[in-house]
Amino acid sequence: MLNIPMRDNHNTQASTKAVILVGGPSRGTRFRPLSLDVPKPLFEVAGHPIIHHCLKAVAKVPDVREVILVGYYDESVFRDFIKDASKEFPQLRILYLREYTALGTAGGLYHFRDAILKGKPERLLVLNADVCCSFPLGEMMRLFEEKDAEAVILGTRVSNDTATNFGCIVSDSHTKRVLHYVEKPESHISNLINCGVYLFATECIFPAIRSAIKRRTTRPRLLSYPSSDNLESSFIATGDDEDAEKNEVLRLEQDILSDLADSNRFFVHETKDFWRQIKTAGSAVPANALYLQKAFQAESPELTPPSATIVPPVYIHPTASVDPTAKLGPNVSIGPRVVVGAGARIKDSIVLEDTEIRHDACVMHSIIGWSSRVGAWARVEGTPIPVGSHSTSIVKQGIKVQSITILGKECAVGDEVRVQNCVCLPYKELKRDVCNEVIM
Ligand code: GDD
Repeated sequence: MLNIPMRDNHNTQASTKAVILVGGPSRGTRFRPLSLDVPKPLFEVAGHPIIHHCLKAVAKVPDVREVILVGYYDESVFRDFIKDASKEFPQLRILYLREYTALGTAGGLYHFRDAILKGKPERLLVLNADVCCSFPLGEMMRLFEEKDAEAVILGTRVSNDTATNFGCIVSDSHTKRVLHYVEKPESHISNLINCGVYLFATECIFPAIRSAIKRRTTRPRLLSYPSSDNLESSFIATGDDEDAEKNEVLRLEQDILSDLADSNRFFVHETKDFWRQIKTAGSAVPANALYLQKAFQAESPELTPPSATIVPPVYIHPTASVDPTAKLGPNVSIGPRVVVGAGARIKDSIVLEDTEIRHDACVMHSIIGWSSRVGAWARVEGTPIPVGSHSTSIVKQGIKVQSITILGKECAVGDEVRVQNCVCLPYKELKRDVCNEVIM
């Protein structure tokens, strides 16, 4: 059991800070080849960087005034993004704090606790940057108040066979209390999974992390964590509290959440809305579709109005040039300065900036990298991802292949060439038909 003080929770105007966990360059390797040219959190889906979608949701929470991006990318990586976002969300102070090394999902929070606790926020929102959802933060806040919670986690139901790829939550369906939490269990315990979005009482989470650090001194060697990207921990228990404090690599999921479940004040808000992880490069395609559909439902003026050649939802950057005879959509994002020729057909795809799709080419279930060229009558296609699936690979003729076709930066597909279920690294020229291949 955690020794967590009770809160005086009568102040409903309590301030909230938000942290977005952006990771670093050694993570997101499954996002290659796209992450070779842009850090994953800045990759654009539905016309905006992935973290912009998180930030937009946080900006809607009335008492949030400060958002801290925590990661271990170079300081310069988020500079322009923060500059632009600060103009768009003038009520928010947005800053980036860099971990000197990968500290894990709780290690960074603890390392920067003084900065996070500055101004004495009572609540802390923590968002994994690599998830795509409607971020029902208002509902999470309400549950938090209603239950006088010390933590609320966002959960969603997935199929039984994929649940063990995530953190699994066993809860009381009536009270919504989290009874048990296991990160990526070996066998099935629940299909209610952790969406990577949390709301904590600040006076509970930091003592909980501190207790976890202290507890580790009594544990034997702890060498690796079951992270999907296999974050390695070099922690070796020494029995010395000070050494344990110095070794800061800590995972929220493994080291903290299961203990919070013992505290009786840990609750789950189950979203019925969409939720996906953005792990592989191909997973940007369903994320793009889901965010576009959300924007369409909200009648966003950013989207292109439906017409005979625009099947909504479609986002076209104002600097792109699309021939009026090209047919686009649904679920298409066209980046800056893209040129789409006459009679082209694009569906369920992302076309990145400065690319040319020549006349009568067809692009479906694909991502076309920056400054690429798809020749006339060429066909670049992937396979649709089944609705509700959390995987972007499929088995074709007995082999596991990418469902989504991805062309890296500055690739060229020749006229009339057909590219199917392929991943193509940057700067490649495809002159012949290719299928189910990784082109290096
Ligand atoms: N700042 C920082 N430092 N961020 C990190 C670090 C770190 O050392 N390690 C991971 N992150 C960020 C990643 O960039 C990502 O946004 C998030 O934390 C979680 O990444 P992973 O550690 O790879 O976890 P996961 O995605 O396999 O699983 C987590 O998310 C799932 C939902 O997407 C867990 O929370 C699961 O329980 C959950 O189901």
